[in-house]
Amino acid sequence: MICREMRLSDQDAVIALWKAAGVFREWNDPVRDIAKALEGEHSTVLVGELDGMIVASIMCGEDGHRGWFYYVSTHPDHQGKGLGKAITAAAENWLRERGIWKVNLLVRGGNSQVASFYEAQGYKNTQSICLQKVIEP
Ligand SMILES: CC(C)(COP(=O)(O)OP(=O)(O)OC[C@H]1O[C@@H](n2cnc3c(N)ncnc32)[C@H](O)[C@@H]1OP(=O)(O)O)[C@@H](O)C(=O)NCCC(=O)NCCS
Repeated sequence: MICREMRLSDQDAVIALWKAAGVFREWNDPVRDIAKALEGEHSTVLVGELDGMIVASIMCGEDGHRGWFYYVSTHPDHQGKGLGKAITAAAENWLRERGIWKVNLLVRGGNSQVASFYEAQGYKNTQSICLQKVIEP
């Protein structure tokens, strides 16, 4: 699998992957999320390409203090083959190249079984609470 930065021409394939993997949420506009992640130098979407198909993705960014991951996904037809591990490692490298040394990510309450995937890559549950507020008008 080749890991590379997403191009706008990948957008439909990436959104289809997010839907297939179950990370799409109808209240998060994926076109807007992708545009925002690609517009600046502090965030991006990495994709994993296998035989010309987008089979893995990760949105990553840094806020000057920590790195963050979102939309971590491998297509269901290709799960369990190390691709999730590879795309996560690629995103860690993307952050490392920017001088970031810690990364955070959120796991939804209903998806706690996926914590084992992250723990296998060295991630630890910090037992923190995530609070959120929508601040746009
Ligand atoms: C989570 C996800 C990205 C993992 O991708 P993947 O390509 O299947 O994972 P890999 O094959 O690279 O697995 C790496 C390791 O994690 C383990 N693992 C993978 N998925 C796991 C899961 N759901 N639960 C527990 N362990 C898991 C694998 O056994 C493997 O262990 P190993 O290195 O000892 O062999 C993928 O299952 C997925 O897209 N899930 C649905 C979307 C999702 O929940 N994303 C996370 C949002 S927070």
